[in-house]
Amino acid sequence: MFEALVLSQEEKVTKANIVQLELGDLPQGDVLVEVSCSSLNYKDGLAITGAGRVIRDFPMVPGIDFAGVVKSSNDERYQIGDQVILTGWGVGENHWGGMAKMARVKADWLVPMPEDCTAEKAMKIGTAGLTAMLCVQALQKADIKPESGEILVTGASGGVGSVAVKLLSELGYHVVACSGRVTENGPLLKALGAKEVIDRVELEQDAKPLEKQRWAGLVDTVGNKILAKSLAQMDYAGAAAICGLAGGFALPTTVMPFILRGVSLFGIDSVHCPFDKRLAAWQQVLSLLPESFYQEACQKISLQEVPVFADKIIKGQVTGRILVTL
Ligand SMILES: NC(=O)c1ccc[n+]([C@@H]2O[C@H](COP(=O)([O-])OP(=O)(O)OC[C@H]3O[C@@H](n4cnc5c(N)ncnc54)[C@H](OP(=O)(O)O)[C@@H]3O)[C@@H](O)[C@H]2O)c1
Repeated sequence: MFEALVLSQEEKVTKANIVQLELGDLPQGDVLVEVSCSSLNYKDGLAITGAGRVIRDFPMVPGIDFAGVVKSSNDERYQIGDQVILTGWGVGENHWGGMAKMARVKADWLVPMPEDCTAEKAMKIGTAGLTAMLCVQALQKADIKPESGEILVTGASGGVGSVAVKLLSELGYHVVACSGRVTENGPLLKALGAKEVIDRVELEQDAKPLEKQRWAGLVDTVGNKILAKSLAQMDYAGAAAICGLAGGFALPTTVMPFILRGVSLFGIDSVHCPFDKRLAAWQQVLSLLPESFYQEACQKISLQEVPVFADKIIKGQVTGRILVTL
């Protein structure tokens, strides 16, 4: 028997309960993993609170990522005792996920634990950190260099945002963090490397098609009006990597930044990111994050605390990354 957070639905209301499961309850898959840790991401918040229609089939074990050790394997790529990481592929959405002591998954979805990484480190980075790395890589690929100018990170106190601030500042970029919690989180964002922290109220106003140029690059985790205004303020030939919708999925913009300033817009998806790109992103994020990051921007919670924190993450009340220990 092992412990799991299980979501069920009664009269369209999602309930989250800790229950005891048996191995026979787990879905089909090639590899059985004993999970050491998972992490709490925005999508987990949507799933666990029922605020977003993330889950269609109940019961469901949430947890869109996990790290742990292989207990049995029908796939030659993985042997008993191997340390592995999983993020994405719909795990925790339509296949039982990481918020349980055991998980059975497809071998194709796993990544071998990089050298010098631990399960705890991997999940302090988690889906959010991997996504932040993919956003930064997109800006690098678009030839946005530290000397190009200021890089704006929106939703900066969140999981993706805080890791993006750290990664960009480690790479020597001039980072401006945009946050709705300047007083509360300004000191942390500065400690992570932001040169300036601006209040998101400044970017929540309606955008003109083009505004004064300010940003060479953008990592956007919130969407909607903030993204539209940031795009209107992009420098000529600037690049925006967009991955999130914490402020809504709308994009009330015009074609002007793209056709008059040559701005590039890169959509970032970590869920179906191919294996080689995923492994390279894991290696780069691990090489860039200093040891201090894992203390300053991460907190640890138990499985029992997950429903409370799921509610908080949806309300924008969580700062940095949340590690879930099992
Ligand atoms: N495309 C992908 O593969 C991928 C992967 C991971 C995450 N995501 C998406 O990226 C987004 C961020 O994920 P996360 O895990 O970092 O979430 P998170 O930890 O909750 O961070 C989101 C941050 O956005 C800001 N925010 C919250 N509500 C807002 C609102 N109504 N208007 C404007 N800003 C708001 C808050 O930062 P401040 O308090 O500092 O303003 C909050 O901390 C989510 O939409 C998630 O689904 C996408």
